Amino acid sequence: MASYFSSSPEEFGEDILKTNYVHGYDNQEKIRLQDQASTLVELLHSDTSYPAGSRILEAGCGVGAQTITLARNSPGALITSVDISELSLAEAKQKTLDTGLTNVSFEKADIFNLHYGKDAFDHVFLCFVLEHLPAPAEALNALKKVLRKGGTITVIEGDHGSAYFHPDSEAARKAIQCQIELQRRAGGNALIGRELYPLLIKAGYDSVRVSPRMVYVDASRPELVEGFIKRTFTAMIEGVRESALKAGLAKAEDFGKGIQDLYRTAESDGVFCYTFFKAIGIKR
Ligand SMILES: C[S@@+](CC[C@H](N)C(=O)[O-])C[C@H]1O[C@@H](n2cnc3c(N)ncnc32)[C@H](O)[C@@H]1O
Repeated sequence: MASYFSSSPEEFGEDILKTNYVHGYDNQEKIRLQDQASTLVELLHSDTSYPAGSRILEAGCGVGAQTITLARNSPGALITSVDISELSLAEAKQKTLDTGLTNVSFEKADIFNLHYGKDAFDHVFLCFVLEHLPAPAEALNALKKVLRKGGTITVIEGDHGSAYFHPDSEAARKAIQCQIELQRRAGGNALIGRELYPLLIKAGYDSVRVSPRMVYVDASRPELVEGFIKRTFTAMIEGVRESALKAGLAKAEDFGKGIQDLYRTAESDGVFCYTFFKAIGIKR
C-alpha cells in the first residue's frame, strides 16, 4: 500500500530514492508498515503458504513487515527476501532474528537486475511494491525469469480509489487525491490494485486469478478502527501533507479538513471501506 515521502532520502545514498521513489524510510513509516501488516495479516495472508523445501523469492521485502508472516506460514520453505535498501534489509534481518525464524535469508538485489539464475525459485511473492515502480510490467517480467516453470507469483497491492466512507467528505476525497497525484508524479500508481489482472497477463503469466480483499471497518471492530482507519490509512494520507502543500495540490486548511474528516470516520457512527487486491499467476 502506498506511502509518503521520506523526510531525507539522500541520507541513504541510493539512486532510486533520490529520483522517483515515493516512500518513507523514517521511523514513523516503519511503525505504520508494521501496524498495517499485523492488522491485515489474516485478510491478506491466510491463504499464502508454501510447501516444505520450496524456494521462495520475496521481492521488495522492505523492513520485513510481510516476511515474518511468510516465514511463519511456511516454516519448511526456504525464503530469500530481497530489497534495494540496505537499511530496510538490516531492519528486516534483525526483526526476523528476534522472532527466532531461521528459514529466511536476506540479500540486496534490484528486481530489474536480479543476479539469480533461470528457474532459481519455485514461487515469487511481492506486496506493496509494484505501486512504486514506473515499469511494473517489466518488474513482473524480470521476476518471471527467475521463476521455474509451473511456479507461482503472488502479488498484493492496494488501490486508493477503493476508499469510501461515512460520513462522506469531499475534503477527505481531495486529500486522498493529493497522495494519488504525488505518487503518480513520482512514477508510481496508487490505483494499481485494479490493474493486477492485466499486468500479470501482459507479463505472460497464466491462470491469473485476482481476489479483492475488502477491509470493512465500523465501531464494532475497534482494532481496525485504530489499526486501519487511524494508524494506516489516515496516517499515510497525513504523511503527504508537506509535499502536497509544497506542490500546490491543496491549501493547508483544506488538507487539514480532509484529514479531520478521515479521522471523523473512526468515530462511533463512522464506516470505512478499502479494498486490497491479491493476484496469483503461474509461469507456464
Ligand atoms: C512499500 S515498501 C513494501 C515493503 C514490504 N513488501 C511490505 O509490504 O511492507 C516497498 C519496498 O520495495 C523496495 N523496492 C522498490 N524498488 C525496488 C527494486 N527495484 N528492487 C528491489 N526492491 C525495491 C523498496 O526499497 C521498499 O522497501
